[in-house]
Amino acid sequence: MRILVVGGGGREHALCWAISASPLCTKLYCAPGNAGIAQVAECIDVGTEDTAGQVALAQRLKIDFVVIGPDAPLVAGMADGFTAAGIKVFGPSKAAAQLEGSKSFTKELCRRHNIPTAAYERFTDLDKAIAYIKAQGAPIVVKADGLAAGKGVIVAETVDQAIEAVRDMLAGNRFGAAGAAVVIEEFMAGEEVSLFALTDGEHVLPLVGAQDHKRAFDGDKGPHTGGMGAYSPVPILDAAMFDRAMREIILPTVRGMKAECLPFKGVLYAGLMIDGNGPRLVEYNCRFGDPECQVMMMRLKSDIVPALIACADGGLNHLALRWSDQAALTVILATKGYPDAYKNGSEIRGLAEAGKVEGVEIFHAGTKSDGTRILANGGRVLNVTAMAPTVEEARNRAYRAVDLIDWPEGFCRRDIAWRAVGRKP
Ligand code: GLY
Repeated sequence: MRILVVGGGGREHALCWAISASPLCTKLYCAPGNAGIAQVAECIDVGTEDTAGQVALAQRLKIDFVVIGPDAPLVAGMADGFTAAGIKVFGPSKAAAQLEGSKSFTKELCRRHNIPTAAYERFTDLDKAIAYIKAQGAPIVVKADGLAAGKGVIVAETVDQAIEAVRDMLAGNRFGAAGAAVVIEEFMAGEEVSLFALTDGEHVLPLVGAQDHKRAFDGDKGPHTGGMGAYSPVPILDAAMFDRAMREIILPTVRGMKAECLPFKGVLYAGLMIDGNGPRLVEYNCRFGDPECQVMMMRLKSDIVPALIACADGGLNHLALRWSDQAALTVILATKGYPDAYKNGSEIRGLAEAGKVEGVEIFHAGTKSDGTRILANGGRVLNVTAMAPTVEEARNRAYRAVDLIDWPEGFCRRDIAWRAVGRKP
């Protein structure tokens, strides 16, 4: 098969790495890709949000199967564009991608299908939103209803912070159309984990869980980011908790979407909050997590391509995937300044040496080549990923590789997997 992956981040590098190992893949393209992806796929400079350009590219290259990586094109309807052109695609339709594109859509689905999640209300009127916040008290969570590049969620510790957040969104136009409506919800205490499942709209193939680290600095301090590191498996998501989350959250969602004539085909990424009462849904995403995908692809022992195709074609119930029992962990190297302003173009050295550390793969998230030089080209730049029999050893391997990378303009967290390292069973 001739396969095209849409995207150019660490998630897409990990997907291309896994897909390129499949005997079913005769030629792999990635658009736009990056300097690391270029080692396993031919990269072509078409933007991730350019549906017409991506469809035309797939037609020109005679692509048999497309895998869409990021959320924005899915929410905008890129999968429908490929389907309309008669090209098989991995990724949900625009209608089904509302699970990520609209917080209130998902909340209402949860209400209709008894899926456990935080209590909430949706507002477009500032005065009503403020009155609700005052009645509920803090802590309380304010979310832009639409897609806001991972920045539209404010966990307000005081009533004043919550009011400032809704004012920014509803009156200040902080997130544009994405913030024209807000969802205000109960603060959930507990430990947050990411759980993934493939679905063909009817059947579900559970993948595994992972835990991300959303804050920029050690100790979960600093601003929210797209994710500064991840690891898998996650001790709190043991087999019993995993089964419960599948039964109480994922399966009713897939059945509910099908019953409402919005079958979801692709990967469901459930952000879960786990406390003494079990799992509750924080949010859905309609694509693989980034950087969770990187650790999942390291642990996956089976060919991923048949499973991705079955999401589009149906018959996922006839497939099973094998996973390594080992731990995988990824450390994000980001450009200093991220997630705020940062400069592109600094040179990264030492990647070849770092990549030789046992069990290590380096996925590129934001790089470009300049002759033989590798330059930073984004906020999140590299995902230094390691596998080992224990999470402690995976972490040691990953940081050993990080320390061989010569890039003074970058930074990383030094405490990835702090919840799992040294945790008593
Ligand atoms: N790991 C966060 C995300 O993919 O949205």
